[in-house]
Amino acid sequence: MPETTFTPARILGIESSCDETAAAVVENGGMLLSSVVASQVDLHAAYGGVFPEVASRQHIKTVYGVVDQALHKAHIGLGDVDAIAVTRGPGLAGSLVVGLNMAKGIAVAGDIPIIGVNHLEGHVYSAWVRSANDPHPSPHPQFPLVILLVSGGHSELYLMEDHLRYRRLGGTLDDAAGEAFDKVARLLELSYPGGPSIQKAAEQGDPKAFQFPRTRLEGSWDFSFSGLKTAVLRIVRKIEEDHQALPVNDLAASFQEAVVDVLLEKTLRAAEEFSASEILIAGGVSANRALREAFQSKSPVKVNIPHISLCTDNAAMIATAGYYRFVHGVRDSLDMDAFPNWRLA
Ligand SMILES: Nc1ncnc2c1ncn2[C@@H]1O[C@H](COP(=O)(O)OP(=O)(O)OP(=O)(O)O)[C@@H](O)[C@H]1O
Ligand SMILES: [Mg+2]
Repeated sequence: MPETTFTPARILGIESSCDETAAAVVENGGMLLSSVVASQVDLHAAYGGVFPEVASRQHIKTVYGVVDQALHKAHIGLGDVDAIAVTRGPGLAGSLVVGLNMAKGIAVAGDIPIIGVNHLEGHVYSAWVRSANDPHPSPHPQFPLVILLVSGGHSELYLMEDHLRYRRLGGTLDDAAGEAFDKVARLLELSYPGGPSIQKAAEQGDPKAFQFPRTRLEGSWDFSFSGLKTAVLRIVRKIEEDHQALPVNDLAASFQEAVVDVLLEKTLRAAEEFSASEILIAGGVSANRALREAFQSKSPVKVNIPHISLCTDNAAMIATAGYYRFVHGVRDSLDMDAFPNWRLA
């Protein structure tokens, strides 16, 4: 991997891997000129999760307008774009194809290089994004980094020793952390997506009210959340059988604390074991206030967490990851396919 030297470049990012259609313009490695996200969350709420065909058809309707708006807000035209970064995977095949085809069309029309980006790498690079108007931007994360990536589909621990270089330490054996939040929210009859609703309910609850299990999987860097989810289910069933009112806030607070404890403990242990300079948390669950506060107060090393607006899916993170690929000479061809199960490492 060649050394990263500063190269000025302006990147248009496009993201459509799941239920957000997004476009953004960043320059020089994460300075944000514009970011537009069209969420489909209301469309999918009725199904309690993402309905793939509905998602891809909605992307088709919105992608052109979203890209147009991102360019407009950045006050640039296609002639000012050095490269297009587009999410290639992992994600829903039908959704990925919409963003990819939009990106390819622009690449041909503007004779602009195109770069396929791993969505998980995008989540990691959300910690590099800085507002272009910030007079005192905070320093970029310093390697080696231990990364906790916790999202709707993933709960992974990586060691990142340099730009674009990842070693997977472990990951969930069953539910992703975000998936556990979504499933437990459904059990508690809280609204979709579950993470923000559980967080809100937990703020009014007692985290010590229920002693939920912490699955530690000693000797491994993996996680498991299915036992915790089942424990919540058992308690809910028992309370319902007893015709008692569900103590939703206490259940939410106790569940949330169990998830945070496990994520925090293992990540801090990995940081120590691999002598990480810093920790980076990313993905939708990194928006969780209790998780952010626990890491900030307990970690002996600096913790990088993206701005809350960049934790869930967006294209600023894709454009920023694309920038680092661009300056390292990565270019992809117009026949690149979607890669729905693409692993980061
Ligand atoms: N405040 C929060 N607390 C806990 N979880 C949250 C919070 N906000 C969002 N989430 C969770 O984050 C997940 C969405 O994150 P994200 O958009 O990164 O996932 P995804 O793109 O669907 O999955 P992946 O990135 O793995 O492909 C959902 O499961 C949601 O419940
Ligand atoms: Mg995501």
